[in-house]
Formats: sequence, C-alpha cells, structure tokens
Amino acid sequence: MSHGLVTMAYIAASILFILSLSGLSRQDSSRRGNYFGMTGMAIAIVATIFSGQVNAYVGLLIALSIGGFIGARAAAKVEMTQMPELVALMHSLVGMAAVLVGYANFLDHSSSLSGAEKTIHEVEIYIGIFIGAVTFSGSVIAFGKLCGRINGKPVLLPARHWLNLALLVITVVLGNVFIADSASGLLPLLVMTAIALVFGVHMVLAIGGADMPVVVSMLNSYSGWAAAATGFMLSNDLLIVTGALVGSSGAILSYIMCRAMNRHFLSVIAGGFGTASGGEVAEVEGEVIPIEAEETAQLLHDSKNIVIIPGYGMAVAQAQHTVYEITKLLISKGKKVRFAIHPVAGRMPGHMNVLLAEAKVPYDIVFEMDEINEDFPDVDVAIVIGANDIVNPSALDDPNSPIAGMPVLECWKAQTTIVLKRSMASGYAGVGNPLFVHENTRMLFGDANDRLQALLKALQN
Ligand code: TAP
Repeated sequence: MSHGLVTMAYIAASILFILSLSGLSRQDSSRRGNYFGMTGMAIAIVATIFSGQVNAYVGLLIALSIGGFIGARAAAKVEMTQMPELVALMHSLVGMAAVLVGYANFLDHSSSLSGAEKTIHEVEIYIGIFIGAVTFSGSVIAFGKLCGRINGKPVLLPARHWLNLALLVITVVLGNVFIADSASGLLPLLVMTAIALVFGVHMVLAIGGADMPVVVSMLNSYSGWAAAATGFMLSNDLLIVTGALVGSSGAILSYIMCRAMNRHFLSVIAGGFGTASGGEVAEVEGEVIPIEAEETAQLLHDSKNIVIIPGYGMAVAQAQHTVYEITKLLISKGKKVRFAIHPVAGRMPGHMNVLLAEAKVPYDIVFEMDEINEDFPDVDVAIVIGANDIVNPSALDDPNSPIAGMPVLECWKAQTTIVLKRSMASGYAGVGNPLFVHENTRMLFGDANDRLQALLKALQN
C-alpha cells in the first residue's frame, strides 16, 4: 500500500472514530456510533497491516486470531452486570501494551536516531511506559474493586500525599538518569516501572467505593493517553489521534461524573473520598412497612403519574423486560409513566440506559435526573427497582455520610414510594438508607424480576 493511501485510510478511520463518539453520546444514535467505530477499526487494522511497516504476517495472524477469539468469547459471555469489570480489564491491557511496546522500543537498537530526535524518542519511551504501568496496575485494582474481590473501602496510608509526591520526584530524577545515558538505562527504566505500578495501585486503593464511577472514567482516559504514547513510540499517527480522542473523552466523562456526584476532580484523584470524613454516619432507625404485589397493583391502578427509578439491582435481576411489560400495560390504561435515570446508577456510565434500550423502552419516556427531579411532588407512585445510593436522602441531610453532597433522585417527595429489593442491605457505598423507613415508603421484598412478574400478573387480573 502506498504511503498516501495509508494516510488516507488513517484519516478516514479518524473521522469514523469521531463520528462514533458523537453517535455514542445519544441513545438513539448509539447503535450507529458503534458501527462507525467498528468500521473505523477495521480500516485501521487493514491499513496498518499493509502499510509496509509490518512484515511478520504469520505471527500477526496468530496473535489476531487468538486475541479476536478471546475478545469475541468474552463479549458474548459477559453478563451485563460484569461489564464494568470487563471494561476495567480491557483498560489494563491497553496499559500493558504501552509498557511492552516501550520496552521493545528501548531494546531495539536498529534505530538510527541521533541528537534531539533520539532524546525525544527516549522521552516518549519513558513517559509511555510510565503512563502504561499506572494504567495497568490501577485498572487491575479497579477490576478487583468492581467485582468485589478487593474491599471497596479506601485504603489511606499515613502521609499518602507525601508518598505520592516522593514517588513522582524519584520518577523525574530517574528520567534524567535514563536520558543522560540511555545505553545503560535499563535499570532506571525498571525501577521507574515498579514505582509506576505502585503508584497505580496506591491511587485506586485510596479512592472509596462511592467514587468508583470517576475511577472507571479516569482509567478510561489514562488508557487513551497510554495508547497515544504508544502511537508516538511507533510513529503511528492514527494511534496518536485515537489515543487522544479516548484520553480527552474519558477526561470529559470524568468531569461529568464528578459534577453528577458533586465532587472536585482533584479531590477524588487525591483519594480518601467515599468514606465518612469526621463524625459518625447516622444509623437508620424507624418502621419498615412491607407491601405485596397485589396491593402495589391496586396502588398503581389508582394513580395517574408514575415514575420508575432503576438501579443496579435491576441489572442483577435482569428485570428490564418485565419492567417494560408493566410500563406498556400501565400506559395502555392511560397512566403517565416515565423513567428517571441517575448519572451513576448501576456500575458504569449509561448502565441503565443500555438496559432500557435492550428492552426497547422508547427514549422519550426516559429522563435524566436533572430533567425530572423537580416533578416528584406531583408524582403519585415512584417505583424504585434495585436502587439504593442514588435515592438516599442522607446524601442531602447527613454531612457525615460518605455520599454527602451527591445529588440524588428525590423520590420520597412522591405520594408513595415502592422500593423493590431483597433485604435491608446497604448499597454500593455501604451506607444505611432512611428512605426505607420513610412514612411514605413501602418495601416490596424479593428478587426484582420475581416481584415484578407477580406485579404484572396482578395488574393483568
Ligand atoms: P446500589 O447502591 O449498589 O444498590 C443496589 C441495590 O440493589 C442493593 O441495595 C441491593 O439490595 C439491590 N439488589 C441487588 N440485587 C437485586 C435483585 N436481584 N433484586 C432486587 N434488588 C436487588 O445501586 P444504585 O442505587 O444503582 O447506585 C449505584 C452505586 O454504584 C453508587 O454508589 C455509585 O457511586 C456506584 N458506582 C457506580 C458506577 C457507575 S459509573 N454507574 C461505577 C462504580 C460504582 P438487596 O441486596 O437488599 O437486594
């Protein structure tokens, strides 16, 4: 393939990636966005293979087949609830690739670069390995936290900010040593890699469970910068552009997540959030009033304005299809039914939107928190399906709560709130929820899908 053709293919792929991102920003165009992304990636792979830079075709074919097989299997098998873990694991692979490419570049002595160009290349290698190693170890810890293998509570070492600063200073000093004499630079490179790995682990361990949404998007951004760094090392323009796109969109997403949770980005990165800062978190005391499916059906029968709030439990129970059956039935009976989505509901950005889209819930009855929160005083029945932290009034009332300051869906202002969950267990942030003992709240205990099936049956009778 001629150089001009490869450049054209790379430009086409870059445009497709930009169109993909813009498509993914809206629910009704997200499918198209995915197709753009897939086409862009196919063009990118083919153009790179035939660009003349590649000659180990057999090795490449074997690697592509193994990687493709593992990727396809993982994507086909993964449960919707395990998606965030899978994403974190993928981020770790991008980080690992950047580290490996960095070392391969360092050990490859065939390059004829000299003077300033050589120094720039060495800086690329050093920074690329650093970002890659932080992304790798941080993503592995995020994976552990998201799948519950590592405790979600923040691990706060004494003088942790000083420790981070010391690690950073050592990294810069080692960088100087590495660039001054790169021929014997393996040792500083190895020590820096170890420090970067520790840094990644420490950074994510220090962030509390309630702030994990920001970690997920932040690592997304890091993986983009790691890919861009790999692009610099390999002199591949498309990888630089793609990495920068992922890096900056991840950074914007982190900012949006922080705003949604009323957190400052820098404070989240510094760690320690997601836990009570000072006094005791208020215990939840009060009477729990259970309700059964038949009674709930009667309540819905007598109401006009209904809002459904899905949370992580809906994903666990895979209740989205039953929810939509109930929604259709209620709408056919002349009720106004809407969905309210909290920005951090579930375990990944857009988690609930994806589930509702899968069940074919029309987009025009799905509302973001800001669009619907003020309507709750006029709502007859709010149905909370497997949500907890995102409807916790203590976020607004209890300054000692780990989620203090996070905007929540104020469903307790509705005339009645029905909460579907299996027990009185706390949610992801590990805090008690006074909503469950509120005088207007009724608890419909059990697996969300089972209970909703029973409710559907009762509504049909
Ligand atoms: P959670 O606070 O985690 O609450 C989910 C509730 O669902 C639990 O209290 C659980 O109670 C219930 N549940 C679980 N399985 C169920 C089932 N089969 N049937 C019925 N109920 C079930 O979820 P949320 O309200 O969606 O809030 C999300 C939380 O995750 C926030 O703290 C957020 O910061 C965090 N987080 C979010 C993200 C993103 S990006 N969205 C990423 C990481 C973390 P029972 O056990 O009693 O049933």
